[in-house]
Amino acid sequence: MPETRNKKASVIALCGKGGVGKTSLSATIVKILSSNPNNKVLAIDADPAVGLSTALGITVSKTIDDIRNELIRQVENGKTTDKAQMISMLDYEMFSALEEKKNIAFLAIGRPEMEGCYCQVNHILKDLIASVAGNFDFVVIDGEAGIEQINRRVMAKVTHLILVSDASAKGLNVVKTIKEVSGTAIDYKKDGLIINRLRSKTEFEKLIIPEEIDCLGWVPEDDTIRSFDIEGKSILEINDSPAIQAVKSCLSEIDIPVSGVDGALHKLTHTR
Ligand SMILES: Nc1ncnc2c1ncn2[C@@H]1O[C@H](COP(=O)(O)OP(=O)(O)OP(=O)(O)O)[C@@H](O)[C@H]1O
Ligand SMILES: [Mg+2]
Repeated sequence: MPETRNKKASVIALCGKGGVGKTSLSATIVKILSSNPNNKVLAIDADPAVGLSTALGITVSKTIDDIRNELIRQVENGKTTDKAQMISMLDYEMFSALEEKKNIAFLAIGRPEMEGCYCQVNHILKDLIASVAGNFDFVVIDGEAGIEQINRRVMAKVTHLILVSDASAKGLNVVKTIKEVSGTAIDYKKDGLIINRLRSKTEFEKLIIPEEIDCLGWVPEDDTIRSFDIEGKSILEINDSPAIQAVKSCLSEIDIPVSGVDGALHKLTHTR
């Protein structure tokens, strides 16, 4: 169990339409941030399909959902009723669910909770995730489609919201909606859009990006990302690639400190 440092972590959440590259970019961000050995990074997979663990080469033994269900079983069997006892059990289980790999820790949320019940358990879990996050410099959340789920199931305190889209009008519409909803739902400091899988700068320049969204940059179609995914290999093992360089540049645009950014790449010369 990591010693509690109670830091103020930067909490970076990635949201966007299905299949646009949230998991690949989350794993790339974890790779970039953890490449500085002084950074402690917590990766949270908020997608029930648990794809981020594969992208990071981490095996999940227990999800937050497993812990929740175990506690609910105990409450229903009359074994645990006291709130303090619940918190202590959940606290213990939460740390046992943290998978650690050097300066990276990983937590999978699992399936969405059942509707309408067990609010107390859900609240305790959210508080515990926030307290675990206090041990890290960066938290990277691979979200489902929207920020509401992250807010409800993972953590309310997202500091950096990264909207992800491909070049499609559908993808851009989804991020527009997420941005509208997040405006009131969450208290984050920075947000911005990354356009993923573009074939050229010209493709980027032709895109019509909604006025209200700040674009951080674009990430090229990258054969290394593609082939690592096909082979089920961890993105942490990629030495360098055009996508990694582009994501570094995007992170620096939202004031996430990264080293070795080539500012000339993927910059925004874009007419709306
Ligand atoms: N920059 C890129 N270059 C090449 N392939 C990419 C790139 N980004 C993502 N991909 C590929 O696109 C596919 C979808 O990516 P990914 O799984 O990261 O999307 P997702 O948004 O997490 O999807 P889901 O909504 O299903 O969770 C994967 O096969 C991945 O390898
Ligand atoms: Mg995914």
